[in-house]
Amino acid sequence: MSGDETGVVIVDAELAEKAAPLAQRLAADGAAAKLAAKDSTLWGPDAESEASIRLSWTTLHKSSRPLIGEIEALRAELRSEGVDRVVLAGMGGSSLAPEVITATAGVPLTVLDTTDPGQVADALAGDLERTVIVVSSKSGGTVETDSHRRIFAKAFADAGIDAARRIVVVTDPGSPFSELAEKEGYRKTFLADPHVGGRYSALTAFGLVPAGLAGADVARLLDQAASVAETLAEDTAENPAVQLAAAWGAAHEAGAEKVVLAATDSGNSNYLPGFPDWAEQLIAESTGKLGTGLLPVAVDGPDAPGFADHGKDATAVAIGAPEGAAQISVTGPLGAQFLLWEFATALVGRLIGINPFDQPDVEAAKKAARALLDDPEKLKGGEEPATVDGAVEVFGSEGVVTEGKLADILRAFFGSVADGGYIAVQAYLDRLDDASTSLLRGEIAKRTGVQTTFGWGPRFLHSTGQYHKGGHQNGSFLQITGAVEDDLSVPDRPYTLGQLQHAQALGDGQVLAEHGRPVLRLHLTDRAAGLAELVRAVQEAAQ
Ligand code: PA5
Repeated sequence: MSGDETGVVIVDAELAEKAAPLAQRLAADGAAAKLAAKDSTLWGPDAESEASIRLSWTTLHKSSRPLIGEIEALRAELRSEGVDRVVLAGMGGSSLAPEVITATAGVPLTVLDTTDPGQVADALAGDLERTVIVVSSKSGGTVETDSHRRIFAKAFADAGIDAARRIVVVTDPGSPFSELAEKEGYRKTFLADPHVGGRYSALTAFGLVPAGLAGADVARLLDQAASVAETLAEDTAENPAVQLAAAWGAAHEAGAEKVVLAATDSGNSNYLPGFPDWAEQLIAESTGKLGTGLLPVAVDGPDAPGFADHGKDATAVAIGAPEGAAQISVTGPLGAQFLLWEFATALVGRLIGINPFDQPDVEAAKKAARALLDDPEKLKGGEEPATVDGAVEVFGSEGVVTEGKLADILRAFFGSVADGGYIAVQAYLDRLDDASTSLLRGEIAKRTGVQTTFGWGPRFLHSTGQYHKGGHQNGSFLQITGAVEDDLSVPDRPYTLGQLQHAQALGDGQVLAEHGRPVLRLHLTDRAAGLAELVRAVQEAAQ
């Protein structure tokens, strides 16, 4: 199958054999056609009420068409005013799709899905005269996004720029942001379809507005989705979404519930850089609940540790072009792949018996962070590190070894991972300036042979965060936090961005510990020096 053709091949013969009866079952149940027709009964009575207001994504290739003209007109208007730098403030489903769309199209988009003061300061340091910020939030109540809005509004005003003319809002009708946009006279508000959940919203205003304003050809994405829509609605075992769901379902049944995702063939016109990060959220947040689900492991490419050498507890998926080491290969252009993966995720939800449209455990970490922000004394520190080794302070949940040299602590931590478990590295740092932190994923996976995920905090809280708390309870969590040199205040809020970032790390750590999961937090008192020590300690620990 070429990269242009949309399709799924279960390359591994054993997996194909196990998947065949599941594909037959989905076809016999008429699941694909029912899904395309927005039938909310597919996931059982408990899921029906949520599903009944979450299925409009199956026909977005038609219903989103009118948006294209509006986006083009706004882009032309902004450009005629010399405004051609697009910043996007949005978390999870409100930023991951535009990020992959623009990365695939090769057009620049500055994405703010962080609370790291340094990273936000860098975005502010860009040319504000040429900047428009798209503030995207379905709920209109997400603290990270609201903080970015406040910070940018003040920065525009301080620079003598009319902030209201530079803020574009994407939100659901009736949300606090839609009311605010009206009150403040923001330049334009795009109201999205409220019957589409965040992670299924790639082809709504949430995906299309920021990507289109940045210069991506978003009409083409809808064409690509339209080209595959009929096939995805067919009740045959060969339907690619049925195939993908059946392969995942069979892998899950066999205990290979970790799905290692790599974009393949960078020379191909359908190379989809960043797609694994988008798919990671879709799969983790949709399936990771009731103590079950699929754990996506997004890796840099097919040569990354954990892909070819994935072990019995994981399944390797190549995205873009067939790849020797993969068990499943998925091809097709981006717009078609969005729809294909959404169909497959909803269908595998039926197979493993979960509701793919809720995210019951996401709120717990937000609540814990809010409680900490209300208690500034606790935030300021209070807690003493159990150990200090160079530029690294060590904190741990109950039962986690925190005494000794850093390498010994890490050795004990890696050694305690449950059989068939996973390690999640969670870095509450600057995704650009501290980018090399992500190399820890491969280092740890290679040296321990354990499937290892990597997430930037708080971004992952809107993605794999659901699985960590709601999915299979066999994760071990390595949090990395860092000293903040220049903090940023959040206008009219009693906390700084750095305090918010710290509260998010501590809050999620608390919730994970309450779930009985081991949490080791390493705080870098000097980010560069601490990171170098950490890398050395990981290497030493695994010898
Ligand atoms: O998929 C989801 O529902 C979440 O990941 C949301 O997209 C994320 O939490 C952001 O929410 P909102 O768009 O309401 O700011």
